[in-house]
Amino acid sequence: MKRPHLLLPGIPAVLASVILAADVAVEPVRNPFAGDRLELPKEEPALKAGAGVELVRSACSSCHSMDYVITQPPLNRAQWTASVEKMKARFGAPLSTNEIPALVSYLEANYSPPAR
Ligand code: HEC
Repeated sequence: MKRPHLLLPGIPAVLASVILAADVAVEPVRNPFAGDRLELPKEEPALKAGAGVELVRSACSSCHSMDYVITQPPLNRAQWTASVEKMKARFGAPLSTNEIPALVSYLEANYSPPAR
């Protein structure tokens, strides 16, 4: 004759309560990293210093990090102009058309292929 396994579902609950009860007596867990220095990445990768950097930082950092500018393959003036115009026309960057030449001058001066 087979016994129905009525008790089986109760076993995990019993184990769990034993484990929970045992936990109460355990020492407080110590932070194994206490005392280690944690170096956080800098908030914003730095744009190169130069004329117009503040303008670029304020015009270009509201939607994405400056990584987008810094890690871009070097672009020439026409390509930077197209890029900035795309930010305005397609993505709605709040730039006035007058600002574009100054933005592009900074980008060209600092993030263009080396002149040959
Ligand atoms: C209104 C939001 C907004 C502003 C302001 C803005 N961008 Fe962007 N930018 C975007 C979006 C959206 C993308 C595309 C992101 C993606 O593809 O993941 C992008 C992508 C880029 C890229 C990567 C290449 C590309 O074309 O996708 C570059 C470079 C870039 N932006 C430069 C600039 C510069 C320079 C400025 C300031 C003149 C600027 N952005 C301001 C929204 C903006």
